[in-house]
Amino acid sequence: MVKTIRAHTNIALIKYWGKADSHLRLPLMSSLSMTLDQFYTDTQISASDEDCFVLNGIRQKGASAQRVFSFLKVLQQRFGVTGHLLVESTNNVPTAAGLASSSSAFAALAGAFCAHYNIQLTPIELSRIARLGSGSACRSIYGGFSVWQKGTDDKSSYAYALDENPQIDLQLLAVELNTKQKRISSTAGMKMAQSSPFFQPWLLRNQQELEQMISAVKAQDFTAIGNLAELNATEMHAVNLTARPSFTYFEPATIKAIKMVSELRQNGIECYFTIDAGPNIKILSQLKNVKDITNKFVTEFENVKIINASFGPGISYLN
Ligand code: PMV
Repeated sequence: MVKTIRAHTNIALIKYWGKADSHLRLPLMSSLSMTLDQFYTDTQISASDEDCFVLNGIRQKGASAQRVFSFLKVLQQRFGVTGHLLVESTNNVPTAAGLASSSSAFAALAGAFCAHYNIQLTPIELSRIARLGSGSACRSIYGGFSVWQKGTDDKSSYAYALDENPQIDLQLLAVELNTKQKRISSTAGMKMAQSSPFFQPWLLRNQQELEQMISAVKAQDFTAIGNLAELNATEMHAVNLTARPSFTYFEPATIKAIKMVSELRQNGIECYFTIDAGPNIKILSQLKNVKDITNKFVTEFENVKIINASFGPGISYLN
């Protein structure tokens, strides 16, 4: 029987934003993320006469299919297996969430590949091969909080579970602002960012910020987690703004949203933001404030969409 694999997306609270080796997708810095319950990808792989990638019931052509098959080719070579493959995926990552789905997509693909060829791997080995598809995918093997230790080579660069079942009161509001923006891929953004004079100093801070975040997670300290996540995200975007040539993912609505988070905080509603390679923001909040924050954003932005997520599980078989 063909097995379906489910992997959830994750959002980095300490960001990965630079490659040391683009072929092996080794990062320049370690990162830490939260896996989300609301967004996931289901994937199954079966033998076929020709390579075929079907996403949400539609056969994919061009760049997205190519990326999937070049990833699967790398894995076939690595494990000494062959054959054409039919890949069927369902993305439960609504575009409205403003979230990239590559973390869940490539984690689910790695899992489905192993299920198809009956390859037994440890979570760390699975994390390593998911990394080859998309860096952030290596963290989606686990639920709760996970850490991707940058390592120095293919063997030592993988994610591990920091806390798969966190008890902390932490919600993530994925806020889709009503913006249209030409997308700069994360690969292109990471490359450009390295020309910033602040890139190296930021890199030097990374280990310290990671250690502080690990301590905050262990202490279940919402305030410390929020402050550090917001600082780290702001540093990433400051690096982009100071790159040569300068670039940014921010849109006017992003700046407005950042200011609103800070105003909410001044008014006693504790919340923090993080932003990835796009104009939308994600807000870290405690359960008791979700309603107030949502109401504020709905009042201030036209057509804003907000999805409230919390901790999701690690990769799993559905059947
Ligand atoms: O794994 P990629 O290539 O989608 O890059 C992810 C980059 C960020 O989302 C901005 C940060 C991260 O660590 O997930």
